[in-house]
Amino acid sequence: MRKNIVIGNWKMKINHQSAQKLIDDMIAGMPSVDADIAVCPPYLYIPEVGQRLADSNIALGAQNVATHSEGAYTGEIAAVMLNDFNCKYAIVGHSERRANYADTDETVGLRFKQALDANIIPVLAIGELLEDREQGNTFDVVAKQLNAVLDFVGIESFKNAVIAYEPVWAIGTGLTASAEQAQEVHLYIRQLLAEKDAQIAENIQIIYGGSVKPQNAEALFAMSDIDGALVGGDSLSADSFLKIYSSFQK
Ligand code: PGA
Repeated sequence: MRKNIVIGNWKMKINHQSAQKLIDDMIAGMPSVDADIAVCPPYLYIPEVGQRLADSNIALGAQNVATHSEGAYTGEIAAVMLNDFNCKYAIVGHSERRANYADTDETVGLRFKQALDANIIPVLAIGELLEDREQGNTFDVVAKQLNAVLDFVGIESFKNAVIAYEPVWAIGTGLTASAEQAQEVHLYIRQLLAEKDAQIAENIQIIYGGSVKPQNAEALFAMSDIDGALVGGDSLSADSFLKIYSSFQK
């Protein structure tokens, strides 16, 4: 049986002091839930947040990872460096990276592989733009983004990966895909993987992202192929994030 997971993506929306407080509040309020939980601070805060999380069940993740393992890549952070600080997860291919930092299906594949090679679980973010959905191209876009990575790393690599379906039009906008809309795409993603390996498809965590809140988490998590959430805005409040974490019923 798949375990559920919530992952907080703090983006560049936090400072040193508020990061410390957020972690302390999360640890103090941590409910007993049989599901995974992780936070992805900005790189700079990873060592300290990691120390504060050391005795907790909250795992550490990064918001991105470099396409190469070392070398002349000014400003980049390699997967092995993240591993030095016990990062368990790394988000790859977030739509903000694709839109603003020229991430392509190819570079996302490289990042995915770098993470895996360093024993970090890649959280592969895929999802369609509003115009894709309006033109009826959601499945095609999602398949293209997924297949690009699948073809590059192979299905076996998805044994240790998480997929985050994040419709771009729902990220940070307050618009959420309905639970049914999300479920339909999650099922499609699982079926695509099942064509290559039924067991891997069955076991992989496919999480939803895009304006997840305590108010909509329960309905999303009740869907059979939604195994949790990648949460942006509402991961910056311990209260909201832990309420989302407490919303699993499966
Ligand atoms: P949001 O962000 O929850 O603020 O919509 C989600 C994400 O970007 O992963």
